[in-house]
Amino acid sequence: MVSINELRRRFKDNLQDGVLILSKLLNVDKSYIYSFGEREVSKEVEDKFIELMNKRQKGYPIQYLIGEKEFMGLDFYIKEGVLIPRFDTEVLVEYIIEYINENYKDKNIRVLDLCSGSGAIALSIAHYCKNAFVYGVDISDTAIEVSNINKERFNLRNAKFLKGDLFEALKGLGLEDQFEIIASNPPYISKEEIESLDRTVKDFEPLLALDGGQDGLDFYRRITEGSRTYLKKGGLLIYEVGYKQGGSVKGILRKAGFEDISILKDLQGHNRVVFGYKRS
Ligand SMILES: C[S@@+](CC[C@H](N)C(=O)[O-])C[C@H]1O[C@@H](n2cnc3c(N)ncnc32)[C@H](O)[C@@H]1O
Repeated sequence: MVSINELRRRFKDNLQDGVLILSKLLNVDKSYIYSFGEREVSKEVEDKFIELMNKRQKGYPIQYLIGEKEFMGLDFYIKEGVLIPRFDTEVLVEYIIEYINENYKDKNIRVLDLCSGSGAIALSIAHYCKNAFVYGVDISDTAIEVSNINKERFNLRNAKFLKGDLFEALKGLGLEDQFEIIASNPPYISKEEIESLDRTVKDFEPLLALDGGQDGLDFYRRITEGSRTYLKKGGLLIYEVGYKQGGSVKGILRKAGFEDISILKDLQGHNRVVFGYKRS
């Protein structure tokens, strides 16, 4: 048997992660770790803790180790094989929630989230806007499994996840011209940039969630084209974009006939969201 303090001492160069991992393993608050350092833990917990800390020291993301990532105030379950939701994506979600509250308060609407991953975007909207029914689509089995677990975790009935290649997943459901909003944070890293990504992203997060084709814009082209069929007249198409892609994505929307196109910036002042409307 070994004490909590002894375990912490062994990894004193990474105390923060150590406290978090240990609190998850013991199923207690982080404050417990600080308050009861003299308490002993079982051999099983000790071994698991050492295994996870060694993995962490090799760059494995902490969020996969603890199986959780907070997004929009909700604790999402995540595991290897799905993208870890990013804080930057909250810009897109906050805009959509405000837009729904301003334009559709108390009206039932349909929202589509393409490339839904863990369900971060779809389920945040479903949680904060109960008048929205949100469809999420992803091509990855792991993403669909994880998003369904999160749907149960947050006890949401106004969301549904479908597996498939973008709009293919909606075929035969009669949802053409039915969406007030289509949102997406698609894979948008170009071939060239994938090589230069941070090791913790490139080595551990799914390539399927990152690879946006040669110039990174493949998904914006495909989704923009398909959105004309699935959006209602007046509907909003809204994307998260890479910080260098604002101008190009704006161009893709304009070319496809979308109007009143705008760009939103993130807290660092980078272009982060592009949106436009199907007016005709
Ligand atoms: C950048 S991640 C976004 C995940 C999530 N929306 C978020 O913001 O955290 C992109 C997602 O697109 C999915 N994806 C890749 N190709 C796809 C396709 N052809 N059709 C549907 N989903 C796809 C990946 O599996 C991945 O979950």
